[in-house]
Amino acid sequence: MESKLSCAAKSLTPSPIQQLSLLAQSCNAVNLAEGFPDFPAPLHIKNAAVSAINSDFNQYRHVQGICELVAHNMKQMHGLDVDPLTDIVITCGQSEAFASTMFALINQGDEVILFDPSYETYETCIRLAGGVPVFVALDPPNWTLDCEKLLKAFTNKTKAIVLNSPHNPTGKVFSVDELEIIAEACKSSDILAVTDEVYEHITFENEKHISLASLAEMQKRTITTSSLSKTFSVTGWRIGWAVAPACIASAIRNIHIRLTDSAPAPFQEAALIALRSTSEYFDSLKQDYELKRDFVIGVLAKVGFAVNFKPKGSFFIFAELPESCNLSDVDFVEELIKQAGVVAVPGCGFFHQNSSKDHDLSCLKTSEPKYIRFAFCKSDHTLAAAAEKILRLSNEDGQLKLFES
Ligand SMILES: Cc1ncc(COP(=O)(O)O)c(C=O)c1O
Repeated sequence: MESKLSCAAKSLTPSPIQQLSLLAQSCNAVNLAEGFPDFPAPLHIKNAAVSAINSDFNQYRHVQGICELVAHNMKQMHGLDVDPLTDIVITCGQSEAFASTMFALINQGDEVILFDPSYETYETCIRLAGGVPVFVALDPPNWTLDCEKLLKAFTNKTKAIVLNSPHNPTGKVFSVDELEIIAEACKSSDILAVTDEVYEHITFENEKHISLASLAEMQKRTITTSSLSKTFSVTGWRIGWAVAPACIASAIRNIHIRLTDSAPAPFQEAALIALRSTSEYFDSLKQDYELKRDFVIGVLAKVGFAVNFKPKGSFFIFAELPESCNLSDVDFVEELIKQAGVVAVPGCGFFHQNSSKDHDLSCLKTSEPKYIRFAFCKSDHTLAAAAEKILRLSNEDGQLKLFES
């Protein structure tokens, strides 16, 4: 029967990361791996969802009010004029917004530029749509964008570039100068930009999220995607959106309707409440996450991780294994699960440049830096438990025993 599967399906094999998740579950490990909160969502938003179910909002549904609120927020945050009737599509999370956008834009063989490292699902969506991902490495330790490297990646087949800021897995927030470089490259090569802004409200210190669409002449060539998932701690509700020029939004909407018809009805009703949240809500979201970030960085630094880049946004720390550590990042996580009872994500799954083959995670050359991604979107109780377990695994010098050569 396997021979009946499509080539696309066959190419999507379970990754070692999924196997590590299973091991983590069987060891009951404290989870700093996955990017979803383990604390409650805001009560007033949950109440709105409960009330929507009790009011029998149980059928396919397209709630126009969400588009109006998204348009309002784009104006408030970025000064953008967006027509809620034509330019916005409500989807099942950013994930569906992104996949539908790829199906709306990509023809067989079109190239799409991605930064490396990057969130894993972009590459799959691009390939499923028939496109070819082209990776441009960001330079550690600050994950800086090198203009020359970017320009070299452009060919006459380039159709679009994908920008995720704030960035998973590094926590980088692209600077205005970097956004200008990307915008200039898009305009001079006449290509589109697809942005993933799911961490738009999670930035630290004085860092401000800037939407690429707000740069001069960029709105007409940018598809902005985002969702409720991270901002309101409701990753399971599956409410997201794409904002695009009307003809592109219409194509995305047609695909979305054929794929899923509509996002979950009760949660669309709750979105009407969530998207009206006050500035106090967003301020405390940032403050809470900043404290969590600092706590986890403190623990990791104490046991010998090299945290060379302090995240400026999102809720991940991409910590480097010290040179003394002989383990690969995958082996390190396996041992961390078994010996400390804590699970994180090996960094190599986010890199593509150095891999000989898709999804081959045993790939990084030994001389390359090795990274582990820790998610700090967890309750203080979970973070304290993880810290205690990690600290317990350190030697008399305070270094993690797993780092000993
Ligand atoms: C960068 C990034 N984009 C998108 C998503 C998924 O968003 P959604 O839940 O809205 O589909 C995630 C989830 O981890 C993410 O890290």
